[in-house]
Amino acid sequence: MVKPKRRFVCQACGSVSNRWQGQCADCSEWNTLSEEAPQTVFSSKHDLSSGGRPIRFEPLDAPGERLVRRTSGLAEFDRALGGGLVPGSAILMGGDPGIGKSTLLLQAAAHVAKAGGDAVYVSGEEAAGQVRLRAERLALSDAPIRLAAATSVRDILTTLGGMAPPALLVIDSIQTMHSDQIEGAPGTVSQVRGCAFELIRYAKENGVTLVLVGHVTKDGSIAGPRVLEHMVDVVMSFEGERSHQYRILRSIKNRFGPVDEIGVFAMEGQGLAEVGNPSLLFLSGRDEPVAGSAVFPAMEGTRPVLVEIQALIVRLQSGATPRRAVVGWDTGRLAMLLAVLEARCGLNFSNAEVYLNVAGGYRLADPAADLAVAAALVSALGDKPLGGDVVWFGEVSLAGEIRPVAHAAIRQREAAKLGFGRAFGPASSGGAPEKGLRYDGLTLLPNLVDRVL
Ligand code: TYD
Ligand code: MG
Repeated sequence: MVKPKRRFVCQACGSVSNRWQGQCADCSEWNTLSEEAPQTVFSSKHDLSSGGRPIRFEPLDAPGERLVRRTSGLAEFDRALGGGLVPGSAILMGGDPGIGKSTLLLQAAAHVAKAGGDAVYVSGEEAAGQVRLRAERLALSDAPIRLAAATSVRDILTTLGGMAPPALLVIDSIQTMHSDQIEGAPGTVSQVRGCAFELIRYAKENGVTLVLVGHVTKDGSIAGPRVLEHMVDVVMSFEGERSHQYRILRSIKNRFGPVDEIGVFAMEGQGLAEVGNPSLLFLSGRDEPVAGSAVFPAMEGTRPVLVEIQALIVRLQSGATPRRAVVGWDTGRLAMLLAVLEARCGLNFSNAEVYLNVAGGYRLADPAADLAVAAALVSALGDKPLGGDVVWFGEVSLAGEIRPVAHAAIRQREAAKLGFGRAFGPASSGGAPEKGLRYDGLTLLPNLVDRVL
């Protein structure tokens, strides 16, 4: 055995160094290193003649193994999971405080319990009374959930070991759990990792669907080590502006289904309601078209969502450096589009402040938004409204070409379904003609400027 060294573990990313530093060398966070118990280090040389047991090799096509999923009772949750809860899998659910994680999971647990599956809900954050109050508010008090307020993983696993394994086990949250096998306070990297490991092992061995609630740090990653994300099968993030009603459940990693599927909910007086057709949620619902507003048929996974993009341009008199502010889109991408509009279309944004906003607290990641953003910018610059029944989609290249994007046909179908009469997009991806929708293909960005101004 080698003499153990002192170890300092970054509480943000889990990287280990052997001396204290103010800033983590890996993730550049400040004041995140703290000393943890030394690890026993074994000599790296194994004695191969004894000790190890032979492992068994398995064929790839094991008969009779099929993925059987259980519904959570919430179609939107099932959709984000790729079809429902998989037995023996571990799900990590991240999200800002107060976004509705506990509410969502209590609703799901109640549905599972009512459908005859055993559901265990362990709260480490709230007293049982508080959870009961929430259940009352959700009108779910009659659901036969097994509810407990506990934080000791040993106690939890001992108790579960003495009963038939439940179908669903919710741990709210992993940061409040602690194990007496591991040194350190609850929430430290080694505790979080150790507790998660024990719980996941229990879930895998007993075919239990485990949901771990994880806190989110201010930069949006799940607090504690990134390794937690590697340990689980599914990582989900529950997002939304707390001031807005709408919540989006997104899967970031999924070993059993597609990522980038979303579930959409509205937080109401009686908990989270499912929003089956989210397409119109993010439009501002105004009758009179105004300059600087363009509608974009975005895709979230396989699902179209219509969003409104708003641009505002303020001319500056003085030579002060103009501001560019973006909410809901990428700042770098806006700078690029402005440069392309200047270089390829001869428009001048140099002494103007540019503000860009995606309505409804929505965050856009779809590259096909370029054309809609460009349309909003040109419309704001020229103070010319775009017309209320038009949608725009397409990617813009540095050369000013309008490039084809994925799912052109689905975008058009959705726009037609919602009463839009006209779509502008890339010339080469018109898709099948939609009834009631006129499609205009554009090749170059100056074509767009001609249409708008
Ligand atoms: P909660 O599930 O406690 O959030 P998290 O576990 O992610 O921290 O949700 C808290 C918020 O949701 C709280 O601000 C109150 C609101 N809420 C409703 O609007 N309606 C409801 O029916 C419930 C239960 C909560
Ligand atoms: Mg909570």
